[in-house]
Amino acid sequence: FFDTALRPMITAAAGSERIKETSQRLSVTRRVVERFVPGETEDDVLAAIRESLEQGLSVTIDHLGEDTTEEAQATATVEAYLSLIRQMAQLPAPAPGSLEVSLKLTALGQTLPRHGRKIAEENAHMICAEARTAGVLVTVDAEDHSSVDERLDIVRSLRREFDDLGTVLQAYLRRTEDDCREFASSGARIRLCKGAYAEPPTVAFTGRDQIDESYLRCLRILMKGNGYPMVASHDPTMVGAAQELATECHRAPDSWEHQMLYGIRTDEQVRLATEGRRVRVYIPYGTEWYGYFVRRLAEKPANLKFFLRSLVG
Ligand code: FDA
Repeated sequence: FFDTALRPMITAAAGSERIKETSQRLSVTRRVVERFVPGETEDDVLAAIRESLEQGLSVTIDHLGEDTTEEAQATATVEAYLSLIRQMAQLPAPAPGSLEVSLKLTALGQTLPRHGRKIAEENAHMICAEARTAGVLVTVDAEDHSSVDERLDIVRSLRREFDDLGTVLQAYLRRTEDDCREFASSGARIRLCKGAYAEPPTVAFTGRDQIDESYLRCLRILMKGNGYPMVASHDPTMVGAAQELATECHRAPDSWEHQMLYGIRTDEQVRLATEGRRVRVYIPYGTEWYGYFVRRLAEKPANLKFFLRSLVG
């Protein structure tokens, strides 16, 4: 029932302005949000970064925001990233490659009515250039299926200048095996996740088993390729499969990594890092936490129960 009826309903709530405004006003919502988002300010996220680095984890930081409707919003997002990257460069010298930012092209203006693509690409270019100077990596997040072609085009174009630019591929999309083949043979950094948006069966697998099988097929392609696979999953089956495939493909421990979200299976993140595995934690921050928060609720029935219980108790 959760997968077939509730999950699509909750995910659809991410698009409702009325539910968004009500939730953002509720202080109980904020308490539950804190589990997944360490705070709204740059100082909040810098504290979370320091803590993660001390635990032996790498980080990737997402300045929350999507659905940009005005160019000024996109410019403000770029400013926030540039400022954050400069602050990250001041952190006590962590291991090379341990600092990264994650971007959403829609937050950078991709869906603006005129020249959206051009604006998003120029904004992403500015961030990539600053990040390169600061020794910070960049990965472009995946959003809903309608934006994939344009996103991958922008990534291909930016990779001509910034060849370490990474992007996300979502195993639930039927096209992703082909995308994995392309990017695995071009040496790219690819973050493979299952996918978190409500997608129609015409473009996406919808059953859990089908999604898991697709994830394993995609993972095999990436591990066999010449790129840098980033295994973004909390699922013990995927975590175990990644380790087995890495051994089978004779991959060195520093030629791929595990990735998990802030607040989810934190003990496992630290355990894997202590075992000597590369582990990166995805840390979102900012005031626009609503869409991100709703996707986390939709991933697990227990999260929803916890949230609903906090509303009444
Ligand atoms: P699955 O959903 O099967 O969960 C496995 C186990 O993990 C659960 O049993 C539970 O223990 C734990 N778990 C998972 N989600 C949880 C939650 N919300 N709360 C508590 N426990 C939870 N998606 C996307 O569409 N575009 C993107 O760009 C990204 N980016 C991204 C980056 C990183 C680093 C990660 C880890 C994930 C993403 N995602 C994403 C989200 C991804 O698509 C997916 O929705 C979640 O990771 C959940 O899928 P799992 O693979 O973890 O497995």
